[in-house]
Amino acid sequence: MNTTIKTLVVLVAALLLAFTLGKSIYEKEQLNQARTVANMVEHIGQWASQYRGVWIKEGKGQAVDLGSHLDTLTVTLANNDNSVTSQEQVETTLDFHLKNPALIQREISDLMQKNQNNTSYRITSDKYMNPKNSPTVFETDSIENMRKNNTLEYSEVKNGTLHYARALIATEACMRCHASAEKAPNSVRNLYPTQGYGYELGKVAGVISVTVPTTYSATSIFSAFDLLSLLTLLGVGLISFWVMRKR
Ligand code: HEC
Repeated sequence: MNTTIKTLVVLVAALLLAFTLGKSIYEKEQLNQARTVANMVEHIGQWASQYRGVWIKEGKGQAVDLGSHLDTLTVTLANNDNSVTSQEQVETTLDFHLKNPALIQREISDLMQKNQNNTSYRITSDKYMNPKNSPTVFETDSIENMRKNNTLEYSEVKNGTLHYARALIATEACMRCHASAEKAPNSVRNLYPTQGYGYELGKVAGVISVTVPTTYSATSIFSAFDLLSLLTLLGVGLISFWVMRKR
């Protein structure tokens, strides 16, 4: 083999190494991104739980998905006050709807899923209340896997897309609504008479499932090489050329 060929071989090997390294860094980043989204979803849930759900005011003429809230409160305002000027305040009644934490998480998830190229999430359980939240094959697998291996995370990469699941553990607070239909508040039982019950305290009840679509290709990995890494590569080539000439 002459020196030029040897140098080429070393260069190609260095490129392959760089590519493999780049790919594994990319996949770790994808996993971290999924974990960040799962953290955010947990915090949204905790935020809403602090208030035992959140009351949303129905805007005038705004359609509300009736199947998706737990309670409605109509408030009558005493509007004898002449200082009231806006149209809304002139109305004497306002409707409020109670959204529970899981519902708030789902509504945000619906918004994120509208944009297919972005990272999105859903919350799901094998014992689901709302059919909109029924689990996919990956989600069913991840729940089974976590229960079997006593773990809190599960992930798969398919065609570069990362599917990540984080366990939702049934706490005392969850049992109020998810233990059994008989024990659940009327508002929940009326909406979901039979399904979504049977959670076991302290056990995996469901998952936050995050999808991080692939954004890399061979070109995107190579285009991520900055001047420094190109110079390093050039350096490796020159050094190997020099070493081989010396032999
Ligand atoms: C006040 C009652 C209530 C409490 C408390 C509650 N949930 Fe739910 N949960 C619901 C309702 C109602 C839905 C259906 C929401 C929808 O329509 O998307 C739901 C949905 C879910 C879902 C999505 C799958 C499904 O059943 O549709 C998961 C997972 C879930 N809850 C887990 C939990 C966990 C874990 C806790 C405790 C941290 C908890 N829930 C506490 C009422 C409750």
